[in-house]
Amino acid sequence: MSNLLSLSSVAKKIWMSLMGLFLFTFLLVHLSLNLTMITSPDSGLFNEAAHFMGTNPFIQVFQWVLFAGFIVHIILGLILQVQNWMARPNAYKKKASSEQSFFSKYMIHTAVVIFVFLIIHFLNFFLVAKGLIGEIGEVTIDGVTMEDMAGLVFDLFANPAYVVFYIIALLFLGFHLDHGIQSAFQSLGLNHPKYTPCIKNAGRLLAIVITLGYVLIPLVIYFTK
Ligand code: HEM
Repeated sequence: MSNLLSLSSVAKKIWMSLMGLFLFTFLLVHLSLNLTMITSPDSGLFNEAAHFMGTNPFIQVFQWVLFAGFIVHIILGLILQVQNWMARPNAYKKKASSEQSFFSKYMIHTAVVIFVFLIIHFLNFFLVAKGLIGEIGEVTIDGVTMEDMAGLVFDLFANPAYVVFYIIALLFLGFHLDHGIQSAFQSLGLNHPKYTPCIKNAGRLLAIVITLGYVLIPLVIYFTK
């Protein structure tokens, strides 16, 4: 923590951007695996993938790298936001923010919603999958008995309150990504009058596609399973 505090503002932004892009790649992998829940018959492929992820030693180690990525991104984001609030008088803040994109003004707010979502998400799935809380059924696929992770997700999304909560939280994630992706490229110095508009549009498109992909999962499960 003190190491993170002692970094210069530029170094903090660079680390935050690198962690943000790393988390973004996790979101892509997580989404493609989760989509197999609604695309593969009986969600067998999803359960097999979840079983592989939950038992492969490399993935188990990598999971801690992922969690460290979340923690560094969150702590640096908080420090930079507080420094920003302390450094800027109100009048300047208003003027500067009017030149920024709409969602850039709400990064800390969308981040808080995503953080609350992540805690609830861990209680819903991760801690249950690890056998730390709740109960999870079992399925046997090709002679291998494993946790019925898809069943756990289906049970959760049978509840309309969870469907609505997940969709709202995922929309906030989309808003966060919309500004976050292009902002990461800027902080890494990848700035060019010709390419920056292209990066912004690509970032927005990816944010929309990822958000729609995630939103589809609770909706399809609620209406069809
Ligand atoms: C419809 C949306 C989502 C569904 C159905 C879903 C489902 C799941 C499931 C079933 C697990 C447990 C996997 C296991 O431990 O074997 C999990 C873990 C996890 N999810 Fe999600 N997830 C969704 C969205 C998200 C989003 C948007 C984020 C990040 C902002 C996220 C972050 C995580 C993390 C960090 C873990 C723990 C690491 C892992 O097991 O891969 N999830 N999710």
